Amino acid sequence: MTTSANNTATAIAHTNIALIKYWGKVNEQITIPYTGSISLTLDQFYTKTKVTFDPQLTADQLLVNGKIQTNLTKVSRVLNRVRQLAGSEKFAIIDSKNFVPTSAGFASSASAFAALAGASATAAGLSLTHQELSKLARLGSGSASRSIFGNFVEWLPGDNDDNSYAVPMTDVTLTDIAVIAVNINSQSKTISSSQGMQLSANTSPYYSEWQNVVARDLVNLKHALMTNDFALFGQISEANAMRMHALTLSSLPPFTYFEPGTLEVIETIQALRADGIECYYTIDAGPNVKVLTQTANLSLIKDHLVDQFGPSRISVAHPGPGIEILEHERN
Ligand code: DP6
Repeated sequence: MTTSANNTATAIAHTNIALIKYWGKVNEQITIPYTGSISLTLDQFYTKTKVTFDPQLTADQLLVNGKIQTNLTKVSRVLNRVRQLAGSEKFAIIDSKNFVPTSAGFASSASAFAALAGASATAAGLSLTHQELSKLARLGSGSASRSIFGNFVEWLPGDNDDNSYAVPMTDVTLTDIAVIAVNINSQSKTISSSQGMQLSANTSPYYSEWQNVVARDLVNLKHALMTNDFALFGQISEANAMRMHALTLSSLPPFTYFEPGTLEVIETIQALRADGIECYYTIDAGPNVKVLTQTANLSLIKDHLVDQFGPSRISVAHPGPGIEILEHERN
């Protein structure tokens, strides 16, 4: 990555879907997770962010899709670290646009904080490696640490600021994969993932077993990815998602991200599978379902879901690229 003499840089980062979920932080201030996680970066949904450091500013300013934002807590964690690394006291204007259609029902925090990390570091003249960018993005949102890289990515949990970062997975032979997003509800959720995961970690009696489960699921998913075993890949991903949601149900007070439509999609996938059509599902901290399938069955399953839920709720994605830092744009 080149250094910036301009104080300005733009970055594009894509969102990701977790297959082995991150759900709980040992350290909330610097986002150190209890467990590792594995995700797939997707091609269709991304955030484009321009950061400009300006000596005239008296505070950071954030625009998301053209609207001024007032809660800059997580953004400031990233920018303060950038300022510290660059030895700068300048504040920044952040202009961020999400190309994550609300109809796709994806959270944008992973792509947003990955793009912010790339753009702000470059705008401050820092020349960071992808590993360093991953640590920087992690300060904003845990899942963002993985969106620095493309395709399959593992977040190594570590136990301090320096050893908790994501890495691209090598030796993956499973490349034929498609994700069909079924949007049930794109309203923002009442319990954020940050709140939900801490409630689960603090109150679910199953939380310590979750850590053992993830350790096993990580080994098995890696095996599936390395041996091109789609059935094993789907089974492990689906089970891990449901085990994460079991933590929400077993928290005090109990809660769930599922809505009636979520269960309808689950039933549909189970019925398709009973008919011999190979597909699985995963669900993040919301009601929307992501169906995991392969090219051979993609149109059949997509058509079926379009018939049942309507075309505006369905979108298709494939493995996507890592972060892109664009040519510096002059002020
Ligand atoms: C269910 O990364 O949004 O999507 O670190 O508090 O910002 P914070 O949480 P976030 O949580 C993601 C939760 C998840 C699982 C995952 O992406 O691994």
